[in-house]
Amino acid sequence: MGQRYDAFHRRSIDDRAGFWAEQAKLIDWHKPFGQVLDYSRPPFARWFVGGQTNLCHNAIDRHLAAQADKPALIYVSTETGDEHVYTFAELHREVVTMAAILVSQGVGRGDRVLIYMPMVPQAVFAMLACARIGAIHSVVFGGFASNSLAARIDDATPKVIVSADAGSRAGKPIAYKPLLDEAIRIARHNPASVVMVNRGLVPMELVAGRDLDYETLRAKHRDADVPVVWLESNEISYTLYTSGTTGQPKGVQRDVGGYAVALAASMRHIYCGNAGETYFSTSDIGWVVGHSYIVYGPLIAGMATILYEGTPIRPDAGILWKLVEKYRVSLMFSAPTAIRVLKKQDPTLLTKYDTSSLRSLFLAGEPLDEPTARWITEGLGRPVIDNYWQTETGWPILALANGVEQMSTRFGSPGVPMYGYDLQLLHEQTGEEVGVNEKGVVAIVPPLPPGCMQTVWGDDERFVETYFTTIPGKMVYSTFDWGIRDPDGYYFILGRTDDVINVAGHRLGTREIEESVSHHAAVAECAVIGVADSLKGQVAMAFVVLKDAGAATNPADATRLEREMMSLVDRQLGAVARPAKVHFVAALPKTRSGKVLRRAIQAVCEHRDPGDLTTIEDAAALDGVRTAVVRADG
Ligand code: PRX
Repeated sequence: MGQRYDAFHRRSIDDRAGFWAEQAKLIDWHKPFGQVLDYSRPPFARWFVGGQTNLCHNAIDRHLAAQADKPALIYVSTETGDEHVYTFAELHREVVTMAAILVSQGVGRGDRVLIYMPMVPQAVFAMLACARIGAIHSVVFGGFASNSLAARIDDATPKVIVSADAGSRAGKPIAYKPLLDEAIRIARHNPASVVMVNRGLVPMELVAGRDLDYETLRAKHRDADVPVVWLESNEISYTLYTSGTTGQPKGVQRDVGGYAVALAASMRHIYCGNAGETYFSTSDIGWVVGHSYIVYGPLIAGMATILYEGTPIRPDAGILWKLVEKYRVSLMFSAPTAIRVLKKQDPTLLTKYDTSSLRSLFLAGEPLDEPTARWITEGLGRPVIDNYWQTETGWPILALANGVEQMSTRFGSPGVPMYGYDLQLLHEQTGEEVGVNEKGVVAIVPPLPPGCMQTVWGDDERFVETYFTTIPGKMVYSTFDWGIRDPDGYYFILGRTDDVINVAGHRLGTREIEESVSHHAAVAECAVIGVADSLKGQVAMAFVVLKDAGAATNPADATRLEREMMSLVDRQLGAVARPAKVHFVAALPKTRSGKVLRRAIQAVCEHRDPGDLTTIEDAAALDGVRTAVVRADG
């Protein structure tokens, strides 16, 4: 680590109160906080206690004096051809109008609003409108289908749902409304009303007494005035569901003040963005990157942010760089998969446009392999900065804080621990710190810094149980990632310690996919694992034991069953979770205590040595897996 940054980081741990009190000056407070950190109930941390602030005020209102007519939200859809620039004043108007709509539907402080939207400006209006009135938003990724959505509706119990007729991918409309209707039908909880944005992409019918047309309401509330509701720093801003080891997604819950300060600080020290510049993140608002670095982070910093609906290769693989040129983008944020996709396309498109405005490209969400990092760094001629974090943390755990001190990137490494994070690499069994170049579990010594999750929504016990009890003898936060550290303090992430997989930067729980596949009447048992993939990082692979072992002996039957299971997953969870292949096997390899040997199956799929198999119940089961994999490889 560089000396200057080293001292900065050390102070953030040794003098948390002093350090974060200083960072807190980066945002507006309506009422100053009395105490920087209340850590009287470990591992629950409360930041900026007693202070009053508001995310919407910090993202929009406070910029109105100096930047009312400057771009705030730049919407580009290469799917529909829509392109629109909202200034801060216009964004303010739309957000206040959306806030008035929500208030008219009885939404108030602490009420939940579920947002199930494609990448349209109204999704951003809805998030900021919630923040404005102290309602808790819960954005559900548009790629999720009915069952996933229903589980989230039941957990969040929203008063209102905001949605749209359809999304669009690669020019094809994807209807949202039928999935939403089905989810509400399955869910135990019923929202009082549903606000529907009609993009005119697919016909839809409004349910009388429940569904409301957004444009009609917008016209009605056009001149409304909805003041900012000042919230105590530790009130809840949002919940965002994420996958873990169980089939039940966890609602990651975040505060107001800590999150605002953490984002403002990261925009300065890590992303190095300035007011008046443009930020372009290719993520989706349904993921944490969309929350932190499409919506809140850039706007809090007074930057314009691009909301992009489309793929990186339509109309051609130059589209991202064309947008960089057109909007003079200073900072870009994407995922390694997007770059691997571009790598397969015409390389001259990388230099066709004037990208001189671009200072850095940030990549996160999944491991960034060295060849891809090298390719894009050389192709763009700009620093490419890998950063590692989680839905739970809300902002980078590992990165380079170039705003504090310029540090060189190291290919394959997301960098060094960010300020505020007291990071350790611990031995899985002993809980002891491992040495340099030794593999350990990446753990954070609590308290977690501002911006990180407060708890699991509605379940404090699950928060403690899930994250703070897995390392023997120590109450530390487990990231569930393996890592190593080199002699210079750079970290390398080596994959998850649990059953979470990462498909093209999308975090998925294998247990949820297993449950979905198991809904098929022919399935006796099933295991889903993540297998390395050169494009998507990982893909899901299903191994199924049928109730009637003979049902898939004929290739035509096997193909039919596989298709049925895939479309079941599509319908229930969404196409993102669809297994790339369903293998039919006679038995799943298990330990004598009945635990499926996922690592062994994964090793076989990746043509690696499955390692120690002394606990295996029936070695023939693993041979069956091997035979199925070899057969599929052709
Ligand atoms: O396994 C790590 C991987 O993605 C997980 C978190 O995913 P999610 O909650 O969707 O948050 C993404 C926020 C960027 C991590 O536990 N991961 C994330 N970033 C990296 C990464 N793995 C390697 N390198 C990264 N830069």
